[in-house]
Amino acid sequence: MASSDLQDRLTFLNLKDTDLVLLRELRPSVEEQADELVAAFYRHLLAFPATRRYLRDPEVKERLLGLQRQYLLSLTPPALDTAYFEERRRIGEAHERVGLELRWYIGAYSLYLSLLTPLIQRVYAHDAAKAQGCIGAIQKVLFLDAQIAMDAYVERHGRELEYLMQELSTEGRRLARNYEDQKAELRSTEDRARAAEALASVGTLVAGLAHEIGTPMGVIQGHAKLLEGAVSGESAEWRLQTIQEQIGRISKIIETLLNMARPRRTRRLPVDLTPLLDNSLSFLREKLGRRGIEVEKNLGSAPCISGDAERLQQLFLNLLFNAADAMPEGGRLRVELSGSEDGWVEIRVADTGVGISSDVLGEIFEPFFTTKAAGAGYGLGLVVAEGVVTDHRGTIEVESSEGKGTTFTMRFPVPEAGDGGSS
Ligand code: HEM
Repeated sequence: MASSDLQDRLTFLNLKDTDLVLLRELRPSVEEQADELVAAFYRHLLAFPATRRYLRDPEVKERLLGLQRQYLLSLTPPALDTAYFEERRRIGEAHERVGLELRWYIGAYSLYLSLLTPLIQRVYAHDAAKAQGCIGAIQKVLFLDAQIAMDAYVERHGRELEYLMQELSTEGRRLARNYEDQKAELRSTEDRARAAEALASVGTLVAGLAHEIGTPMGVIQGHAKLLEGAVSGESAEWRLQTIQEQIGRISKIIETLLNMARPRRTRRLPVDLTPLLDNSLSFLREKLGRRGIEVEKNLGSAPCISGDAERLQQLFLNLLFNAADAMPEGGRLRVELSGSEDGWVEIRVADTGVGISSDVLGEIFEPFFTTKAAGAGYGLGLVVAEGVVTDHRGTIEVESSEGKGTTFTMRFPVPEAGDGGSS
């Protein structure tokens, strides 16, 4: 507190040296009566539930009796220096800290005045003017103390309120963010539901179409078979063979479409991905070896996920075949499995192959998109792969750089204890 402020307060209260002299003269009597005064003060506080509740602890009681005694003595006379003012501020803050309401706190200064007045009247019984002066002096000091303590009290209270307001507005912002997130989540769930609905009707259409095409295709295939041996001449044989190859191709596309369109119940059983990835790699070992593809396997320990082992195997095979096809001249295939701390399992399949150019990278999960030579792929493998991933509540991401290679990263949630069943 600035000394000019202290001075202003003293001047306003008209607290003069003569007041201090009177209070000094009172000191021996206060010393003598201090214990009684403090006891009376304390009795008063015990008489009211609002103040009594702070005095239940006997240790606090003991401490307070001593502090009150000290306080009482510090009034005769008050030092009125900076340290004195700081101490008064501290006392104010201490009461705000314990949560004492201001009305009881300020009321206690009046209580002190009413306890000290009869004492002063007794001490100056022979000198009414002195008694009057001394009562006035103690009144000014108690008012000064109450002022300083109250200012500090209110300031601290304000700071605390400000802090609370800040906390409240932070909390408010957090809630608003949560609300927005939930709204977005709901929107995307709705979008997904709509997309699933659309897919289901497309699926029905595709299944019907595939069936319709499949039947005459079977007939054509049968007749083509019957023609084997019935045609002669190199050119006719070659034509028949081409017809059969193309029928085979169409049949494969139809089969894949039917597989995709068929409503599935994804099994939900605990699946350990390590043997699944190992098996997939073994399955491709020969193809990889032939191409001079070096395999780097890092299958660290990861918890089981909940799902359909068969479909997951299909997913891995799809990705591994793609990786192998992307490295016709050989290269390195890296397969990694790891369990993250936040309840996810991560799988990476990375090749050092031809890569995918950035302008088509966004389309690779679209049906019939393929970078492979005509006849080498139908552009459905990654559609199936994405379907398997989303059915397992997972995510799949791709990073690629042309001429350097492609990395697919999949993340699957680890079920919490108690999760399970089928969906
Ligand atoms: C004239 C009014 C009062 C004065 C001068 C006074 C004086 C003091 C002082 C000097 C302290 C120690 C502060 C510190 O440095 O930490 C204190 C603490 C305290 N006072 Fe007062 N007090 C007054 C009124 C009251 C009233 C009305 C109550 C109500 C019960 C009260 C309850 C307390 C409590 C609970 C503490 C904290 C005790 C502890 O845990 O250490 N005071 N008081």
